[in-house]
Amino acid sequence: MTKSTTRLTYENKIILAPMVRVGTLPMRLLALQYGADIVYSEELIDWKLLKSVRRVNDVLGTIDYIDKSDGTVVFRTNIKEKDRIVVQIGTCDDKRALKVAKMIENDVAGIDINMGCPKEFSLKGGMGAALLFQIEKAKAILLSLVQNLKIPVTCKIRVFENVEDTLNLVRELASTGIAAIAVHGRTKSERPQHLNRNSTIQAIAQELDIPVISNGGSREIDNYKDIFKFKNNCGASSVMIARAAEQNCSIFCKQGLKQLDDVIVDYLKLAVDYDNSPSNTKYCVQNMLKELQETPRGKRFLECQTLEQICAIWNLAGYCRTKQLEYQSRGLLGRREV
Ligand code: FNR
Repeated sequence: MTKSTTRLTYENKIILAPMVRVGTLPMRLLALQYGADIVYSEELIDWKLLKSVRRVNDVLGTIDYIDKSDGTVVFRTNIKEKDRIVVQIGTCDDKRALKVAKMIENDVAGIDINMGCPKEFSLKGGMGAALLFQIEKAKAILLSLVQNLKIPVTCKIRVFENVEDTLNLVRELASTGIAAIAVHGRTKSERPQHLNRNSTIQAIAQELDIPVISNGGSREIDNYKDIFKFKNNCGASSVMIARAAEQNCSIFCKQGLKQLDDVIVDYLKLAVDYDNSPSNTKYCVQNMLKELQETPRGKRFLECQTLEQICAIWNLAGYCRTKQLEYQSRGLLGRREV
């Protein structure tokens, strides 16, 4: 018998933001372990998920969505995050969005639509921030999901330069019945070095009845207390954190930041436990190490190609080898690079 879960709500939450390549299962579980209330997946493009097939992975205890053509893992999740994982979809089409959301609905707690990505790939495809300028299309996508899914639907937007234009936008989006809205306080053309428009988020929070999730504050967030300062500055219900968590996921710890090496050890154990690909694991650790990659140990790390080689640098080679042997003996199929 499946356990019934309560519907996810978005008030007073601290949330791991969607991050391409960073927001895979080990990082999401680490964020939850450290104290995050909700974790967003990396953006998954609708057609990519649609050409995947759902597999129950008994060896790892996960549900995998595997690309039918090349066998790569498109999305991996497990029961530990089931009631707190929100999958972010990149889409420009209401029918495709609904099809893909229906496909994963029973495995996740919420669906988010990316309406903020400023990358050329998204904009050219009419996805991400392009939707901010096609309000009828954006509303059609959200409405179709809200009306047909059992789980809550949110969207993540950027702001316009003009506050009134932004308020018009969010009123329209909220009218579809979405459960909450995440707002990155920068415009489509602004970059991380630009100041986050916290006052625009505040105006949105005053305008809407649904929870507003403030985002874009990583430059102002060095410790746990700063999360609440940022939230108060924005007058928002919840906070969503990307770069501060990418660098040191223990930003979610009430007790304060942990040493980076301890965070890397915790992360690597989860990467091993869930057979994360070496390339994705390396990418995430690189983003934690940043300039430490220039040190002799950092340089040794950069030469690593296997999970065991990476683990050896943090004295986890034995842990990795034992797990991998166990998985092989239980019949885990070879993993292909993502
Ligand atoms: C992002 N961001 C992002 N946003 C989104 O909606 N979907 C995504 O897949 C990604 N991917 C992504 C990858 C990486 C490596 C970074 C650093 C950022 C944007 C992110 O969610 C957030 O909106 C911004 O980084 C601003 O928040 P912070 O970093 O100030 O907390």
